[in-house]
Amino acid sequence: MTRKILVTSALPYANGSIHLGHLVEYIQTDIWVRFQKMRGNTCHYVCADDTHGTPIMLRADNEGITPEQLIARVWQEHYDDFAAFHVAFDNYGSTNSNETKEFAQGIYRKLKAENLIEVRSIEQYYDPVKNMFLPDRFIKGECPKCHAKDQYGDNCEVCGAAYAPTDLIEPFSAVSGAKPELRNSDHYFFKLSADSCQQFLREWTRSGSLQNEAANKMQEWLGAEGENKLTDWDISRDAPYFGFEIPDAPGKYFYVWLDAPVGYMGSFKQLCNKQNQTPPNLPLSGEEPSAPAPDKGRAGEGFTPLNFDEYWKPGSDTELYHFIGKDILYFHALFWPAMLQHAGFRTPTKLFSHGFLTVNGEKMSKSRGTFITARSYIDHIKNTEYLRYYYAAKLNGSMEDLDLNLDDFVAKVNSDLIGKYINIASRTMGFIEKLGGQLGGVLIGNGNIASEDDHLDPITYQLTQASLAIAQHYEERDFAKALREIMKLADEVNFYIADKKPWAIAKQNDQENHLKMVCSIAVNCFRLLSLYLKPVLPKLVAQVETTLNIPALQWPDAFHLLPDGHRINTYQHLLTRLDPKLIEGMIAANQESLKSMTESTAVAKPAIAPIAETISIDEFSKIDLRVAHIVNAEHVEGAEKLLKLTLDIGEENPRTVFAGIKSAYDPEKLKGRMTVMVANLAPRKMKFGMSEGMVLAASGETPGLFILSPDDGAQPGMRIK
Ligand code: MSP
Ligand code: ZN
Repeated sequence: MTRKILVTSALPYANGSIHLGHLVEYIQTDIWVRFQKMRGNTCHYVCADDTHGTPIMLRADNEGITPEQLIARVWQEHYDDFAAFHVAFDNYGSTNSNETKEFAQGIYRKLKAENLIEVRSIEQYYDPVKNMFLPDRFIKGECPKCHAKDQYGDNCEVCGAAYAPTDLIEPFSAVSGAKPELRNSDHYFFKLSADSCQQFLREWTRSGSLQNEAANKMQEWLGAEGENKLTDWDISRDAPYFGFEIPDAPGKYFYVWLDAPVGYMGSFKQLCNKQNQTPPNLPLSGEEPSAPAPDKGRAGEGFTPLNFDEYWKPGSDTELYHFIGKDILYFHALFWPAMLQHAGFRTPTKLFSHGFLTVNGEKMSKSRGTFITARSYIDHIKNTEYLRYYYAAKLNGSMEDLDLNLDDFVAKVNSDLIGKYINIASRTMGFIEKLGGQLGGVLIGNGNIASEDDHLDPITYQLTQASLAIAQHYEERDFAKALREIMKLADEVNFYIADKKPWAIAKQNDQENHLKMVCSIAVNCFRLLSLYLKPVLPKLVAQVETTLNIPALQWPDAFHLLPDGHRINTYQHLLTRLDPKLIEGMIAANQESLKSMTESTAVAKPAIAPIAETISIDEFSKIDLRVAHIVNAEHVEGAEKLLKLTLDIGEENPRTVFAGIKSAYDPEKLKGRMTVMVANLAPRKMKFGMSEGMVLAASGETPGLFILSPDDGAQPGMRIK
């Protein structure tokens, strides 16, 4: 029976580039999906950009564009990167779509009707300059534990302490620098603590929907029976926010993680719409023409409409799998199934969670040049199937981290792909061509292999029989095991060739049939190895199919051989060795771009005067600095250097200050400006009158004198600390 399977990968955030860490997941998923399609199962693979939230809103703001413009640009970049790595989604959407919006709002309404939504007022930091509530990550301050400065609102990167933003000492907004204020606001909560949720999640955890490691984590989060460890989940955010409005709650938006997984449904809905409107043969995002069109399954089966409900309603006999990283297990194992269950949808069949990528045994790092974007890999190495192969050789379906060791990468690609696999074709196909381009002498019967007797040589039989075990390894996502098996078979074929020595046979007289048979057996073995490698190397195997002059390989083809008389095309060079210089170049370029950044700032920096003696914070706080509004500025009769300023710092009467800035400023231009003054400096009697403070200005070795101005929004009299 053909299975009906819906597969997703996590939706990448639209505020960053795809990097080699992300690709672990998309390559893993793509290999599994391609395998399912080759087996003849109906399998749909959908994904989308995750577009909502504060970081995206602020980044667009910084770039001076709308969030919609930003996410459109990033969508195209992501789409192109995935296509280059042959990740062939059946649909790649965006969470900022009508489909996702409707499902998100529908789910919310249903949860509300089920009494699972509660409104509560919470106190939270607010940025009075930007006029927005601040997510924890956008509040900074001094760590309450170790007193490191400039730490985020949720945890300290220096000592690792976790805390609430309100625990920070001297908090400030990372957006505007302003001192945040505590304000109250109504928030909407999904009542995860409700008995029905806890009960359901306990059952779901036990239902085999999780890898063991993940199920253990879940037990930890859920606590012992009756312990009710789960707390309600805050699903709303206040305007301004880039996201979907909550129905009947003006100014309130869904928190990005509420609608992100709903994006799986939205993207699948788009696929249904697309598929039900248009005739089959939709293009895939991957470019290879030989891949089967979505939902067409095996070539020739024709077009079947795609029914959303069949995949998402309770009791569905379709399968639903989410591939995710271990960092987002919490969202997928708790919130998501609970939402689905209580909103009247089916829950996932299984979550496939993977570990994190390290490069040369360490976290990806910009300074080491190992923070590598998909684009940088494409620019330097071009062939993306090398990486697909290496990741596959390391992926075993567990949640362990995975290491990209760059020396090992080169060695493995060259020894396995070139030395073992491609070598078989390059050593034998040329002889067939010289003998007229047709295979011969291989088979007794019609090419169908039912038993060992159907075939002249045991090597081919061994290869066809391996199909079952290899399929099982792919099915279980133990790609590492599948590839070990395949490379073992490649070794066998190479032994066979070394034993038969076609190059020696070619030198003998009247041995043409013998030579043809040996090479035809090798070519048939090469075809079988190609079939087994096809989920991992779709583009290379498409070239192999052209060279062998055969239709797109499907899994059941393992039980047929190319018959005598089959004509193959001229052998063309299929793959070049991976040159370690390309890797060195890529690493150097990534280090370089960082170096040139730091260097350019270093070059721009002239020598500075030595830093003054250290003072304590108490000594510093003796100086009372205030934001001042320059109400008036004028020349002073007879003064060479001075301007007379009238400054408002929120006191009853403005102050008069004589400032030595005449050489640098036209008084007319200063009027109305904001600046900074020392407000508690002892008044000083000068030739032209009393000076009641001092304005601050910067000067250095290079010419120029520069007074300060606070950021927009600062009010006269605000203290500068
Ligand atoms: N937007 C969320 C997912 C929402 S799903 C409804 C998100 N995005 S992400 O861009 O940060 O990550 C996307 C996927 O890539 C996640 O599954 C994440 O675990 C994975 N990876 C990101 N960096 C990774 C590594 N360095 N190594 C392996 N996988 C990594 O999370
Ligand atoms: Zn700390």
